[in-house]
Amino acid sequence: MSKKKVVVLTGAGISAESGISTFRDSGGLWDRYDISEVATPEAWERNMDLVIDFYNQRRKQLYEVEPNAGHYALVKLEEKYDVHIITQNVDDLHERAGSSKVLHLHGELKKVRSTADENLVYELKGWEMKKGDTCEKGSQLRPHIVWFGEPVPMIPNAAEISSTADIYIIIGTSLNVYPAAGLVNYVKPGTPIYIIDPGDVFAAHIPDVRFIKEKAGTGTLKLVEELLKKDG
Ligand code: OAD
Repeated sequence: MSKKKVVVLTGAGISAESGISTFRDSGGLWDRYDISEVATPEAWERNMDLVIDFYNQRRKQLYEVEPNAGHYALVKLEEKYDVHIITQNVDDLHERAGSSKVLHLHGELKKVRSTADENLVYELKGWEMKKGDTCEKGSQLRPHIVWFGEPVPMIPNAAEISSTADIYIIIGTSLNVYPAAGLVNYVKPGTPIYIIDPGDVFAAHIPDVRFIKEKAGTGTLKLVEELLKKDG
């Protein structure tokens, strides 16, 4: 018998216990930086140096942190379930923990791409991208990040995955950013939906959701243990 499909939508909160800042919590990244100055195509046009430096700092930090219990619990869930992770995070902590199916909605920090051809995507060696680094066609490279105001190319795939979930789990996201926050609308009616988050997540649009008001590390492990006791 084929395994049940668990789809997990993750946000910055699952990486918080690894030491990566969330965006909208008090003291989060968007308290310290202006989105319009570092995470938009206009910012890139206006002040490429600042944008490059912002993502270089994020990337440098990523080399200093490790996955946490929340990431590892989702790997354990694969023992009995077909687990698909849809992450808004640009870090690679799900992959480093060992999850096998990870879709990045908002790009990946360790990748860069051509400004002339979005299909030319490269793994960056080390943490530093520099002004003057070019693609094979000679155009400036940019972070492989979906900026505010840009389309989210992976949304159709994520919607398709969400629509075939038998169980849906949302971890560590304020559900403020669309279209990611709307993915739950593709979940089939009657599918069990869980939210793991210590904060108050706005979830009025999500029917019959079970809240686990805990940090990702402990909350995810508890839910995973509960699901592993059931028939996958
Ligand atoms: P937010 O910063 O908006 O939300 C983080 C969520 O994590 C909040 O609901 C917190 O309560 C929760 N949280 C904090 N600590 C936690 C912990 N230890 N365990 C579990 N949850 C915890 O981050 P996102 O919702 O991921 O996009 O933000 C979505 C997008 O907005 C990001 O992908 C990024 C950002 O701008 C781009 O940069 C394109």
